Amino acid sequence: MRIFFAAQLEPAEAQAWREALRSAARGHEWIVHAAGRRDDDIVQADVAVVANPQPGSLSRLRGLRLIQSLWAGVDRLMADATVPAQVPLARMVDPAMTAAMVQSALWAVTALHRGFFTYARQQQQAQWVQHPQRRADEVQVLVLGLGTMGAAVSAALAAQGYGVTAWRRREGPLGSSGVTVLHGAQGLETGLAMAEVVLNLLPLTPHTRGLIDAAFLGRMKAGAALVNFGRGGHVVEADLLSALAAGRLAHAVLDVFASEPLPADHPFWQHPRVTVLPHVAALTDLRSAADVVASNLARLQAGQPLLHLVDRARGY
Ligand code: GLV
Repeated sequence: MRIFFAAQLEPAEAQAWREALRSAARGHEWIVHAAGRRDDDIVQADVAVVANPQPGSLSRLRGLRLIQSLWAGVDRLMADATVPAQVPLARMVDPAMTAAMVQSALWAVTALHRGFFTYARQQQQAQWVQHPQRRADEVQVLVLGLGTMGAAVSAALAAQGYGVTAWRRREGPLGSSGVTVLHGAQGLETGLAMAEVVLNLLPLTPHTRGLIDAAFLGRMKAGAALVNFGRGGHVVEADLLSALAAGRLAHAVLDVFASEPLPADHPFWQHPRVTVLPHVAALTDLRSAADVVASNLARLQAGQPLLHLVDRARGY
């Protein structure tokens, strides 16, 4: 098959992806957007493998049968009107990426529960102060989103002994054992009222954009913490800063932002109660993700059902 690789990445990263994809999915013709290439070549591609494609770069691919994202979140693709809407779109579900997200979630929840961010602040003041040590089962965590990552994170937190509730927007399959599942507006209210840590892993859709606003933060328990490993668009940043200033929220661990890279003068950078990560909670793993792409290409070629297709109406 002819495969068009459309990515806006650092040159070294793009090169590493091309090599990993070529070696995982052999026997295909890879077309890389390069200066001097005849446009006819690109128009005839069967598949587009994409990572932040330039808007408009897919609109001329007439014979496309699959758009395969290298990223788990497809919100940018969904928002790009030039991405052909009738072509099946697969998102990345990469086991190594899910494992990385579980590690990040365990780190953030453990650090919040055990006061490690507080101890880091104390170190800056040379303060030797011990705080009471609580057990994991004394801490309630609310996980927002019950997709691949939300389910894996909920199960891992429950296995550590945390009291875990997972919230999904709509009713759906239950989570794993030890995880209470809530849904809908009422379920969210119930979950927020009891959680000490709220960890966001929702997909960004028109329904979830701006969900974490003043009203949401106002429903959280006083002194609770927020972890955002979803998308920056889920959070109304000004409302989050107000909740932190008012002392309603004790701490926020943020990996994603309305504007990335986070601007140098953004108040989050210097905020003593905000931990900033540069969108690294879970990166796509080159080797395992290339295998996921290869298996979807093989399925397409064999006429078998494709994996991890996005429901365009739902938006994820
Ligand atoms: C990362 O945020 C991804 O969507 O893959």
